[in-house]
Amino acid sequence: MSALKEQVLAGKTAFVAGASSGINLGVAQAFARAGARVVLISRSAEKIAAAAKTISDEGHEALGLAADVRDYAAVEAALGQAAERFGKLDIVLSGAAGNFVAPALGMSANGFKTVVDIDLIGTFNVLRASFQHLNRPGASLISITAGQAVRPSLYQAHVCAAKAGINMLTKCLAMEWGPAGVRVNAISPGPIADTEGMRRLAPTDQAEAAIKARIALRDYGTKTDIAEMAIFLSTDSAKYITGTILNVDGGSELGDAGGNAIPEGF
Ligand code: HXC
Ligand code: NAP
Repeated sequence: MSALKEQVLAGKTAFVAGASSGINLGVAQAFARAGARVVLISRSAEKIAAAAKTISDEGHEALGLAADVRDYAAVEAALGQAAERFGKLDIVLSGAAGNFVAPALGMSANGFKTVVDIDLIGTFNVLRASFQHLNRPGASLISITAGQAVRPSLYQAHVCAAKAGINMLTKCLAMEWGPAGVRVNAISPGPIADTEGMRRLAPTDQAEAAIKARIALRDYGTKTDIAEMAIFLSTDSAKYITGTILNVDGGSELGDAGGNAIPEGF
């Protein structure tokens, strides 16, 4: 049964960073439909207000705040406002990210640093600053990583390095904060349909088809696939799960599954 169909997060408060669009907005909307009050942050005051409105328009409680995850003080202030409005936080998801396709030699030092700052330093900032506001024991912290963390990828040196850092940061925080009853996990989405990430990485129908032909399950995933995992991680069903990187990727991490994997006659 889909977690989205039940009020499994009733009474809980979720803080979602990087939530003005795409996967993270999909997760924030799903958290709200599952009963949680939701606080959303991103850089753009206009975009995050519109994102929060999609949730309040459905009759759920949502607060949109502008904050750049690279700015620790701004993140702290947003978390403070969230706690003031809704009390202690039960769920914190850190998913803000930036990407562009460029060879390392076509990437300035600032280009590399920008992505590492948003993805990796931003995730540290969000999770570190959230600790004092967490409902402990019981809080669920989730970072959003990617297959690039474990699989080198051409023209993605910044993302590969940043996401690899997120995987290790997730595990270190799980180790340090487990004794306080705080679980820390990462979700690693595969290619997800209708997202900025895939528009940048596979901008043409041809590129999209080529990617799908090499995935074991032969398709992109959906934002709902990621939301289902985020909700699962935030319920008691996952109470003994921490320090893990959970792939929701159709088998992408297994490697190239192109061609006729199943022999004739079978
Ligand atoms: C080379 C580039 C570049 C490009 C930017 N830069 N785009 N270099 N090729 N295409 C360089 C700039 O020249 C500058 O370096 C530095 O990066 C910072 O650029 P700014 O525009 O000043 O940065 P900022 O305004 O902070 O914007 C960050 C951004 C932007 C990452 C560059 O694209 C952004 O805001 N992205 C957010 C949305 C996004 O990327 N969504 C996709 C997430 S998906 P110099 O030296 O000139 O100062 C994802 C992929 C995961 O994360 C895997 C999917 C499968
Ligand atoms: P997206 O729509 O561009 O989402 C990125 C979000 O981060 C936006 O809401 C953006 O909002 C926010 N953001 C960017 N920089 C920020 C900053 N400095 N401070 C605060 N917020 C910031 O991209 P997406 O494709 O859905 O990706 C979402 C997450 O999934 C990312 O972590 C990405 O790495 C991961 N992922 C995606 C895919 C995929 O197939 N798309 C695959 C694997 C992993 P503002 O512009 O308003 O700040």
